[in-house]
Amino acid sequence: MSQFNLVLLGPPGAGKGTQASRIVAEYAIPHISTGDILRGAVKNGTAMGLEAKKYMDAGDLVPDSVVIGIVKDRLQEPDTAKGFLMDGFPRTIPQAEALDAALDELDRAINKVVVILVDEEDLVKRLSGRRVCRTCQAPFHVMFNQPKVEGVCDKCGGELYQRDDDNETTVRNRLATYRKQTEPLIDYYDKAGVVARVDGAKAPDDVYEDIRMALGPAGA
Ligand code: AP5
Ligand code: MG
Repeated sequence: MSQFNLVLLGPPGAGKGTQASRIVAEYAIPHISTGDILRGAVKNGTAMGLEAKKYMDAGDLVPDSVVIGIVKDRLQEPDTAKGFLMDGFPRTIPQAEALDAALDELDRAINKVVVILVDEEDLVKRLSGRRVCRTCQAPFHVMFNQPKVEGVCDKCGGELYQRDDDNETTVRNRLATYRKQTEPLIDYYDKAGVVARVDGAKAPDDVYEDIRMALGPAGA
C-alpha cells in the first residue's frame, strides 16, 4: 500500500486504543481518536465539550455534525498526508459517507478497515477493569494489562484514572449503540472490499500480529 488510510472498527473495549498505539508506532501515521479528542474538549471545558459530555455519559453518540467537523479539521493537518489511523470514527453511515467524500476531494480513499471482534461479556469485563492515563491516554487493565506501578502509566508516568463512561449501565448502552448504529459499517466497507476481521479475544501481541498480516509491511 502506498498510503495507509486506515480505520479501526470494533465495539467498546475491543482493544482499538490498545492496538492503535502499536499500529501508529510501526506505520508512522497519526492516531485520530474521536473519543480522545472529545474527552480533551470535556477536560478543557469548551462549549463543544460540555455539549458532548451529556451524550458520552449516557453512552449515546455525539451528533454526526459535531464529530464530522472535528475529523474534517483534523484531516487538514499536514501529518495526515501519508495516512492516518481512525479510532472510533466513523461510527454511523453518514459519518462514513462524509469521510469518503472528504477523502475523495483529496484524491484518496480508505485502504483498509480492521474490525476487532470480541464477545460481549468479555467486553464488559474489560471495560469495568480499565484504567487510562490522564496524560497520554494509554489504556491499562487491573487484571489483563497491569501497569508496573499501580496507578501510574508505564509509558509516560502519568496518573491512571477510570473513565466516567466505564460503569456497567453506560457500558451496556454503549454496546447497544454499537450494535445498532456502528455494526452496519462492516457491511458498508465489505462492499468496498477493504475489511479485515481479526479475533480480538487473543492476547494483545497476538492480535497485533494478525493486524500486521492484514496491513502488510510498513513502507511497502
Ligand atoms: P471511544 O473513546 O471511541 O470509546 P469506545 O468505542 O467505547 O471504545 P473504548 O475506547 O472504550 O475501547 P477500545 O476499543 O479503545 O479498547 P481499549 O484498547 O481501551 O468513545 C467514547 C464516547 O465518545 C462514545 O460513547 C461517544 O459518546 C463519543 N464518540 C466517540 N467517537 C464518536 C463518533 N465517531 N461519533 C459519535 N460519538 C463519538 O481496551 C479496553 C480494555 O481492555 C483495556 O483495559 C485494555 O487494557 C484491555 N484489553 C485490550 N486488549 C485486550 C486483550 N487482547 N486481552 C485482554 N484485555 C485487553
Ligand atoms: Mg479507545
